[in-house]
Amino acid sequence: MRRRPALVIGSTGKTGRRIVHRLTGLGHPVRGASRRSDPPFVWEEPSTWSEALRGAGSVYVSFFPDLAAPGAPTAIETLTSYAADAGVERLVLLSGRGEANAQRCEEIVRESGLTWTLIRTSWFSQNFTEGHLLPSVLEGVIALPAGDVAEPFVDADDIADVAAAALTGDGHSGRLYELTGPRLLTFYEAAAEISKTAGHDVGYVPVTSERFHAAVAQSAGSDYADLLTNLCAEVFDGRNESLAHGVREALGREPRDFTDFCRAAAASGVWTR
Ligand SMILES: NC(=O)c1ccc[n+]([C@@H]2O[C@H](COP(=O)([O-])OP(=O)(O)OC[C@H]3O[C@@H](n4cnc5c(N)ncnc54)[C@H](OP(=O)(O)O)[C@@H]3O)[C@@H](O)[C@H]2O)c1
Repeated sequence: MRRRPALVIGSTGKTGRRIVHRLTGLGHPVRGASRRSDPPFVWEEPSTWSEALRGAGSVYVSFFPDLAAPGAPTAIETLTSYAADAGVERLVLLSGRGEANAQRCEEIVRESGLTWTLIRTSWFSQNFTEGHLLPSVLEGVIALPAGDVAEPFVDADDIADVAAAALTGDGHSGRLYELTGPRLLTFYEAAAEISKTAGHDVGYVPVTSERFHAAVAQSAGSDYADLLTNLCAEVFDGRNESLAHGVREALGREPRDFTDFCRAAAASGVWTR
């Protein structure tokens, strides 16, 4: 029997793009979903969701902008019910570590009646290459309201490997995988590691939430500044200063180290100014 495709929501993003690549490589049928897909999938327009879900056997869900956003639980609840109506068999949710709203969304997925896997992750290393911190790395100053807290940065390639396994393999249903990298690093230490490979000095400057909010509001608007400032206040209070072993549990191997990520990033030219 022909396998039904996996639908990857957020298919052009940091995790989704990698998952599409992996499933394609495995010969598993896959369809991308984002504002640019055909048919389009738009989080603010639930009328677009049913068409995107039609015929999908499994779904990967990366919510935009973040499960910490106030509207996320309602959106995830509605999506799971549309997915059940569409006959989706398994759903894999990308979630954030230490985020109360994200954990509410996980609960909604657990209660949805679908077969589920939860992937709860720490901060992505790729925030420095594909995310909002790339301009900071290029300027040489990473300013965050993170004090001297340590974060176990996780590699999006590891997240994608776990998600691809959960979408296509056996033994992952009803599992919560908490994914971190293998090492805790303060932002001072992360900036120092980036400096060693980037070809220019990159420093970390801890700033107040007020100063951070003002800077983000100027470049990306006040809604995004509210979201990011609240998120930083929530997760950079020390609650995530521990390692978790979801990569090993799901894949039987260790996660990729931040140093290896930095070497590959520098070699790709993304930090070249
Ligand atoms: N970054 C981190 O450190 C971190 C840590 C833990 C959890 N997370 C979670 O990661 C998720 C984000 O995943 P990601 O980093 O892989 O994605 P991403 O790189 O932020 O990319 C966003 C994706 O969403 C799509 N998108 C943007 N606006 C949209 C809209 N209005 N409607 C539909 N699609 C839209 C984009 O595609 P188009 O532009 O083509 O529409 C793109 O595919 C968030 O839910 C967050 O909670 C992130």
